[in-house]
Amino acid sequence: MALQGAAVAEELVFYVNGRKIIEKNADPEQMLLSYLRKRLCLTGTKYGCGGGGCGACTVMISTYEPASKKIRHYSANACLLPICSLYGAAVTTVEGVGSTKTRIHPVQERLAKCHGSQCGFCTPGMVMSIYTLLRNHPEPTSEQMIAALAGNLCRCTGYRPILDACKTFCKESICCQRKANGKCCLDRKDDLFDNEEKVSTSLFSTDEFQPLDPTQELIFPPELMRMAENQPKRTLVFHGDRVTWISPVSLDELLDLKAAHPKAPLVVGNTSVGPDMKFRGVFHPVLIAPARIPDLNVLKYTNDGLTLGAACSLSLVKDILTNAIAEFPEEKTRVFCAVLQQLRTLGGEQIRNVASFGGNIISRKSTSDLNPVLAASNCMLNLASRGQKRQIPMSDIFADGVGNNTITPEEVLVSIHIPYSRKGEYVAAFRQAPRRENALPITNAGMRVLFEEGTDIIKDLSIFYGGAVLTTVCAKQTCETLTGRHWNEQMLDEACRLVLKEIALPGSADGENVDYKKTLMVSFFYRFFLEVSQSLKTMDPCHFPGIPMEYGSVLQDFKTRMPQSIQIYQDVGLSQSPQDPVGRPIMHQSGIKHATGEAVYIDDLPSVDGELFLAAVTSSRAHAKIVSIDTSEALKGAGVFDVITVRDVPAANEFYFFDDPEIIFARNEVICVGQIVCAVVADSNVHAKQAAAKVKIEYEMLEPVILTIEEAIKHNSFFEPKRKLEQGNVDEAFETVDNIIEGEICIGGQKHFYMETQSMLAVPKGEDEEMDLYVSTQHPAIIQEMVAASLGVPANRIMCHVKRVGGAFGGKILRTGLLASVAAVAANKTSRAVRLILSREDDMVITGGRHPFIAKYKVGFMNDGRITAVDAKYYVNGGCTPDESVLVAEVSLLKMDNAYKIPNLRCWAYVCKTNLPSNTAFRGFGFPQSGLVTETWITDVADKTGLSPEKIREINMYKKNEQTHFKQKLDPQNLIRCWNECMEKSAYYSRRTAINEFNKQNYWKKRGIAIVPMKFPFGVSTPYLSQAAALVHIYTDGSVLLTHGGIEMGQGIHTKMIQVASRELNIPMSCIHFCETSTTTVPNACASIASAGTDVNGMAVKDACQTLLERLQPIIKKNPTGTWNDWIKEAFKQSVSLSATGYFRGYNEYMDWEKGEGHPFTYFIFGAACSEVEINCLTGDHKNLRTDIIMDIGCSINPAVDIGQIEGAFIQGIGLYTMEELKYSSEGVLYTRGPDQYKIPAVCDIPEQFSVSLLSSSQNPYAIYASKGIGEAGFFLGCSVFFALRDAVTSVRNERGLNKTFALNSPLTAEQIRANCADAFTDIVREDLLISTTQMLQERKVRMKCKGMLDNLLPHITLNNFI
Ligand SMILES: Cc1cc2nc3c(=O)[nH]c(=O)nc-3n(C[C@H](O)[C@H](O)[C@H](O)COP(=O)(O)OP(=O)(O)OC[C@H]3O[C@@H](n4cnc5c(N)ncnc54)[C@H](O)[C@@H]3O)c2cc1C
Ligand code: FES
Ligand code: FES
Repeated sequence: MALQGAAVAEELVFYVNGRKIIEKNADPEQMLLSYLRKRLCLTGTKYGCGGGGCGACTVMISTYEPASKKIRHYSANACLLPICSLYGAAVTTVEGVGSTKTRIHPVQERLAKCHGSQCGFCTPGMVMSIYTLLRNHPEPTSEQMIAALAGNLCRCTGYRPILDACKTFCKESICCQRKANGKCCLDRKDDLFDNEEKVSTSLFSTDEFQPLDPTQELIFPPELMRMAENQPKRTLVFHGDRVTWISPVSLDELLDLKAAHPKAPLVVGNTSVGPDMKFRGVFHPVLIAPARIPDLNVLKYTNDGLTLGAACSLSLVKDILTNAIAEFPEEKTRVFCAVLQQLRTLGGEQIRNVASFGGNIISRKSTSDLNPVLAASNCMLNLASRGQKRQIPMSDIFADGVGNNTITPEEVLVSIHIPYSRKGEYVAAFRQAPRRENALPITNAGMRVLFEEGTDIIKDLSIFYGGAVLTTVCAKQTCETLTGRHWNEQMLDEACRLVLKEIALPGSADGENVDYKKTLMVSFFYRFFLEVSQSLKTMDPCHFPGIPMEYGSVLQDFKTRMPQSIQIYQDVGLSQSPQDPVGRPIMHQSGIKHATGEAVYIDDLPSVDGELFLAAVTSSRAHAKIVSIDTSEALKGAGVFDVITVRDVPAANEFYFFDDPEIIFARNEVICVGQIVCAVVADSNVHAKQAAAKVKIEYEMLEPVILTIEEAIKHNSFFEPKRKLEQGNVDEAFETVDNIIEGEICIGGQKHFYMETQSMLAVPKGEDEEMDLYVSTQHPAIIQEMVAASLGVPANRIMCHVKRVGGAFGGKILRTGLLASVAAVAANKTSRAVRLILSREDDMVITGGRHPFIAKYKVGFMNDGRITAVDAKYYVNGGCTPDESVLVAEVSLLKMDNAYKIPNLRCWAYVCKTNLPSNTAFRGFGFPQSGLVTETWITDVADKTGLSPEKIREINMYKKNEQTHFKQKLDPQNLIRCWNECMEKSAYYSRRTAINEFNKQNYWKKRGIAIVPMKFPFGVSTPYLSQAAALVHIYTDGSVLLTHGGIEMGQGIHTKMIQVASRELNIPMSCIHFCETSTTTVPNACASIASAGTDVNGMAVKDACQTLLERLQPIIKKNPTGTWNDWIKEAFKQSVSLSATGYFRGYNEYMDWEKGEGHPFTYFIFGAACSEVEINCLTGDHKNLRTDIIMDIGCSINPAVDIGQIEGAFIQGIGLYTMEELKYSSEGVLYTRGPDQYKIPAVCDIPEQFSVSLLSSSQNPYAIYASKGIGEAGFFLGCSVFFALRDAVTSVRNERGLNKTFALNSPLTAEQIRANCADAFTDIVREDLLISTTQMLQERKVRMKCKGMLDNLLPHITLNNFI
């Protein structure tokens, strides 16, 4: 059937939140997310990545199946869901779940009240995942709950409070009940109440929660049920501008369509076709949607197995296999178990709910987790084309690689047959990914062996790998060679060698390490060997010895469990008025709005009349001259309004904050990939992007291209000034020490990955050159300054407004200023409102991140562990412009001592100028890097002296009132208290003993533990950078409007400021409202950075409130029994001003870099963390078992907010130190551009036991209400996980007699862990590499006839690389 013959275009009918939607012009290219947000103005569903990787856009889809009369509810990512696939479905978004205008749903209420939202950008997605689970399981298990959240990312909270909210719905207790009295081991309330201070362990009260009442939910629309039951199914056709969607109802019809349109893809879940069309420029004019065809949805048990329709969702397959495993004998279900094993961690639930079984197979992606195991298990594919049906073994489709045409374009996969396993047959599947869940695998495998009956003689063997080459690959020759062999170690040895020989891995194209993949391939086979050996023993213990006891644990994969957690803080005193909110765990002021989706972010602002959308055109070269820019094709694009270039900038295009400029548009030359060259403005996001892709830029490459620190050193490419600090006499001290070590560590960069990408809306006001700018920024004043300078207007014409920011972490300051200037220049030129919302991909490519470091150190120490001399050099990759890199380098020097007194210390910092996007501020500002270096040399000293790292830490820790290396006074009393409490609360020594015991009993799994102290100096080193102002109005009805210069980006600053105002004015928080931060209300506000927001703005708010109260005093005195409203009315009558500004001058901080001394910090935050991990030595995978944190934050203004900051920062720190890895091509192009490639911590990464205690009785005379700024400090403590991993690796190396000294870089990924746990498998890979390199060189030698040179080279390579 040709397209022309298909039915006429349909109206698309579906429901959204109980409302019927009839879409007459459904566009097959339109995804539900943009439809909800732009067409229906339902902006609660958020854009985070557009590719299914973050869960911010989660919605619930409900469908009705008339045959079974069942309604199915499932979560899905709206960003990948074509609206055309929704015919007859009901969509529920966060707005449909509950709202402040109607009724808040218990999920929304509990998430907010359990403090599960910070910036709130991920919260609607979280709500929808939990809500959907509860619709299907009103009393879920904690396992179901954890699985439901695997596909949702949060960059702020560290997940603990979200899971706390989830637990309140789970039926079982999550307490470990390990204590003798049946109590949870984390419940230390009893021990704590012995203390004099009253401490609390609850941040919320469950008594407040409304019960979950499933009868209150939106019902499935009866009209859709009637439609499904009464209307015969018919072909649906939707025509868009460029694409046609055809959804047939019978197999014959489908086969006709396929014959007519062989190139048209079948779209079921759109999780493969969608990303290809969105991100890789693939275009399909016709899309065929076969999901409604019964043949493609079959479920049939036959004598020899199970047949499943190709359109079955992966979730359905998972459920079916789970049921089958419960029903059939174990012997028959080994294939099912192996497939299920992969399905558990494949994608997130939102992906599995829509992605089809057939789609996963037919995409033939190398990363398919199912194909290796299905192929190894002899699954069969049932194919059909017009007039023909056939069955082929699954393995055939991979026989000759990807381009293989075993399946013709006209053919359709109807169903998949999964066989039962047989007696003597064993099947297994393995995978290793950069993150345990919701991450595509690096390498995976499916393996099957069948033995001659009653023996260990191999009758049939199949081994398939994924991730190795472009598609799934079979180790066919290996399997053939090994057939007939006994299942023993000789076979194992040969298998590994054969596999490596047979599966040739191409050189690394996208920065992946080939060695690691090879190691995984053989390690997986070894794991299979162990599993099968153990099974043989179970079958016949007399003949088969099984495996040694200490090998057993490696057969268990790490599982994600609902973590147990506790938070301990000091309660407010009994004398405190119940109305006074200071010191109490008050919910985030916007918490409920976050959870209902009513909190407004930039892209949620309604569109302005005539608004244009801007798409940036960025450089694809790292360093080049711009020869020409051809915009002619772009200007012809649909909906295009204009192209904006540097010529359109009325005034400043370059900003000189340091010697080199920050640049809005590249003028003649580009200096990094991702630099903005020009921009297209069009009537929609889609049109702007399409046109941007048509701008042609011709380049002429310039030399040098400097990407790395090493290259910058080679070319002497640095930003000035270079910095140095020195105390004592370092050179002399090195003369007198017992030992000297020298080392080097590389620390990779980190992307901010705020969930709300860079966003801004510039609205020209039409007169006096005024412009409103709505920007997601931490620093409205700099945006105002930069935009005014670029437009050449005074700052008083630019009004910058910030309601809230969906995460920033330092990344929304200068970079945002440049982007806002781009939008403002476009708005100025076109006289239209211009909206610029970066896609995740553009955001990652255009903006920089945390600075990569290379540190070289020389440490002199005595045999007893005293470190007396340190000389350290830090090389910082600043990127292509200065930004704040020199300041970052300075802070890294000022904080490098961490908790230690080193009498003779010299440190240097050099900022390298490279051709990467400019790196910028990021939580911790240089300390996370220099602190890691310090803890690394501490650990090196421990290795060398034979003392434990904690002993070295104790020996060298600041102990009494002392001076830092820049001569600032320091009282370390609370540092020592934190350390001691952490030691005690974590039961460090007894756990160390238990870990040693565990490690003795387990060969392939090891545990490690580390405890790390922290001194985090608070301050910005420059007095005027900590000034702050506030403005408080009291209206005649008694309500108060509060504003100040701080930005709400998740850290709860507005909540705390309302707490401050409430205490000062002695009125309930409910009387006080915060509207927005704006340059019109508070001018010249400093950036919300460096943990200082609450400190400085709190002082200003307090000042304003005190001024007002002073004015009211005479009236209050006269009428002491009056109410607040009485006083305010009276004040108005007496013409008392009810508006006041408040001001804080800032801290007296300074630093003299010439002298190397000063007082750059006002006070110190102290802390300590102890973390325990377990590693799998065969894969490098690890699990975070437990973390205990003690933090001295003075008197917390809001313990819920502060603990949230500590936990969120800690988990972000785990990200930096153990998983977030940026990969660039050798031309400076970033590969890791979204959540698919760049892995931030997810639910599976939080410690199974997680405790945070705030140090009691700590006062701070320098900040408001004796509190301390806490936004950044927790980040560094994430390195306790790094050192726990190092500890585990050390025990592996000690046991294997490997070299005691070894270097680990950050992030300490699975790849590095595996490489450092050297064993026979890493050896065999090295040998293989040696052989192939040698062979390659030999061949080249012959070819090139270049004998002399290569003769020299060969031994060199052998020596350097392999011995
Ligand atoms: C965020 C994310 C995470 C993921 N994580 C993983 C992971 O961890 N492991 C993993 O293995 N996969 C993963 N995937 C891939 C996912 O499993 C596949 O994309 C999915 O199974 C494809 O099914 P679909 O229905 O969405 O395919 P579609 O995109 O709808 O179609 C895919 C292709 O298959 C073809 N096709 C589909 N059905 C048929 C049929 N019946 N006959 C012939 N051709 C057909 C289509 O023509 C098309 O070319 C992930 C995907 C995303 C987006
Ligand atoms: S926006 Fe849809 S998953 Fe990220
Ligand atoms: S609260 Fe989750 S991303 Fe900010």
